[in-house]
Amino acid sequence: MVFMNKKLLEYESNEKLTEYLIKEYSVSNAPISISFRDLLPQMNKSDRYTHLIHSYPAKLLVHIPYFFLNNFYFSKERDTVLDPFCGTGTVLLEANLAGRNAVGADANPLARKIASVKTQKLDNKYLEEILATLICQAKQFQKVDLPNVRNRDFWFPFNTQIQLAKILCAINELPDDKYKAFYEVCFSNCIKKVSYADPRIAVPVKLNPDRFEKEGDRYKKIKKRLIDLDSLDVFEKFNTICSENIIRIKNLFEISDNVSSHVISEDAKVLTASINDKSSRLKDKSIDMILTSPPYAGAQKYIRSSSLNLSWLGLTANEDLKSLDKKSIGRENYLLSELKEIKTGIESADELLSVLFNKNKLRAHIVGNYLLEMKEALDESIRVLKSGGYFIIVIGNNKVCDIEFNTQEYLTEYIQQKGLKLQFKLIDDIKSYGLMTKRNKTADIISREWILVFKK
Ligand SMILES: C[S@@+](CC[C@H](N)C(=O)[O-])C[C@H]1O[C@@H](n2cnc3c(N)ncnc32)[C@H](O)[C@@H]1O
Repeated sequence: MVFMNKKLLEYESNEKLTEYLIKEYSVSNAPISISFRDLLPQMNKSDRYTHLIHSYPAKLLVHIPYFFLNNFYFSKERDTVLDPFCGTGTVLLEANLAGRNAVGADANPLARKIASVKTQKLDNKYLEEILATLICQAKQFQKVDLPNVRNRDFWFPFNTQIQLAKILCAINELPDDKYKAFYEVCFSNCIKKVSYADPRIAVPVKLNPDRFEKEGDRYKKIKKRLIDLDSLDVFEKFNTICSENIIRIKNLFEISDNVSSHVISEDAKVLTASINDKSSRLKDKSIDMILTSPPYAGAQKYIRSSSLNLSWLGLTANEDLKSLDKKSIGRENYLLSELKEIKTGIESADELLSVLFNKNKLRAHIVGNYLLEMKEALDESIRVLKSGGYFIIVIGNNKVCDIEFNTQEYLTEYIQQKGLKLQFKLIDDIKSYGLMTKRNKTADIISREWILVFKK
């Protein structure tokens, strides 16, 4: 590995630094260690535009899209940038801010909604007017139907359920879909904060003081939180979240009117041209640049993390959560009858997959199927990328059954097989990469991310 030296911090432009990275890599053929936080300290202020409009697991470090998008080496103004795993739209927003058009895909309907709202200019005076009446209207509802959220009483105090249902009724009466979506996102960002779920863990896990030393700090804190939750003014909480988000939305007026952002598809494996037309297909060679952070193999449970939000918003019925999970690459739930030894055609991965299969069939199947589905998604991205276009992937390795699963190497091997040229590889430490938890006893915490830069 080539270590980042002070020189790297002194380059006068992103383009010059890119030229240096390409040259350095062509000589050493070794990944270059870099700290994007040191390189772009001005980006360390985390509340930038609408990025914090809603929480989400494993959001991309904003510095990375900022560096690659404010860089004429990889794209120019008005070009179209694709993020096939767009999550909450970090890349889409940074692309628009850099004067590029953006299109994205994601399997999670909550992520798609957040990504759309995050990049949507709205009239903030009108947003304020709506907010002023929305909460009064919500309070006036006498009787509301409680939505079909699984284990509702386990997750929410009854009084909170009533207040949430009233707010939702008021939001549902809003006539304009774009403004309604904004308030749905604010509502969704409220859900976990008013629930008994531990705010430090991505998937819902109920706060339990008894897991800590009696009368210790943590025990007392959780006890207090549980008492506070039972008498919480949810209208007030919702009002605060909305007010903060209205301020964030206001900043989007800096985005040029010449560019747009659209979430166009729900599956990176089959990129549709429009989310509303399942039979449409994004045109071959229509995308100037791709920048994405795909899911890791078995690392984040995106659908389970969003389950309370998805149910409250009616984005999916309880019984459909499973089928939604089945569409997510990197999922971990398989039936025993599904488990089989997988060959991916990626030499370096197949050797490891057969070792893993003898150790633990389920884990071998999870990571094997992950690679098969990632191959389909990569094929699709490469299909839509213009010749000469750059394909930039941010990904991490992890451990499976105590063995390193070298995802970046497997994806690199496959993309090169498809004829793309590797320009350089960077490694950055993940220090605050949002809510990464110990996932199971054989997997390690992902601590470094790789940035792989290819040219078609
Ligand atoms: C690492 S996250 C992306 C986070 C995003 N960069 C952000 O900052 O919010 C990976 C995303 O891939 C999505 N995903 C999983 N399977 C998918 C598929 N088949 N098609 C599209 N997206 C998928 C997950 O729902 C998740 O949002």
